[in-house]
Amino acid sequence: MTTLDQSFVTNGTFKADLFKGKVVFITGGAGTICRVQAEAMVLLGANAAILGRNQEKTEKAAREIEALRPGARVVACSNCDVREVTQIKEAVDRVVAELGRIDFVIAGAAGNFLSDFNHLSSNAFKSVIGIDLLGSFNTVKACYDQLKKNKGAILFVSATLHYYGVPFQVHVGAAKAGVDALSNALAVELGPLGVRSNCIAPGAIAGTEGFDRLTRGVDLKKQIPLQRYGTTRDIAEATVFLFSPAGTYITGTTQVVDGAQWHMGFKYGEDIYPVGLTKMLNEPSKL
Ligand code: COA
Repeated sequence: MTTLDQSFVTNGTFKADLFKGKVVFITGGAGTICRVQAEAMVLLGANAAILGRNQEKTEKAAREIEALRPGARVVACSNCDVREVTQIKEAVDRVVAELGRIDFVIAGAAGNFLSDFNHLSSNAFKSVIGIDLLGSFNTVKACYDQLKKNKGAILFVSATLHYYGVPFQVHVGAAKAGVDALSNALAVELGPLGVRSNCIAPGAIAGTEGFDRLTRGVDLKKQIPLQRYGTTRDIAEATVFLFSPAGTYITGTTQVVDGAQWHMGFKYGEDIYPVGLTKMLNEPSKL
């Protein structure tokens, strides 16, 4: 089921056809957050390609997003792992053959789980760095010709947890810090080509896997200055702004969309430390 519908156009902030004739390429586009970014772009006139590992999930999401706007086309690129640059390049070639071009790239594919350092194996760390950081690099690499040709824009889906140390998130914090650095360097290096690069950093977005893992059923709304959780639509609205003509002088920055939550520090439920941390850190180590 889609999150957005035609009312995003009829009663929303942005005009219909804003992205008419444009194509957005989204890794992780069948996932909770990136899928709604895709919905917004398609509702506002873009065609899209969503890339994912799971065939059934990716195909289903593509058909549902496509149905949002008569005439829209959404290509499902499934069985693709962002850790393999050749798989993304094959997907890009197919998208260009079918949709003609790529203007916008969202590097959103991510992997996450909670683990204390002691139980986080070297391979587990590598997996998350591989998906989040190497995968983001690979995505831009595979789309580079199109970005250059169309003076395109890149949006990396980052986070706020590496702004300070967060227990159980050594792997993700390191990966997202790398993503921010990647985006900044690309903004500077590709700026003369007219290519923009930014990050979006979601806070606690209700309904996502990460949200459920981190809140653990505790009501955290009072810890957020705006006193509410974020929605996937909040992320989609900021995405549209950054890709729209209103954002053409914005590059090399991170748009945090979190109701100012990160200024308050990070907590697991009501505690800084997850329950049982000391015990876990003293168990036999996993290499
Ligand atoms: N705690 C600790 N280690 C874990 C773990 C967990 N919850 N889940 C996986 N790992 C470890 C595995 O044990 C393995 O390490 P090992 O070889 O030393 O045992 C390593 O991570 C790789 O596991 P594998 O199943 O081969 O991973 P993968 O590369 O196919 O998948 C993950 C990547 C692990 C990130 C997986 O969680 C994933 O695919 N996630 C995608 C969905 C997702 O996380 N979405 C949320 C986005 S915020």
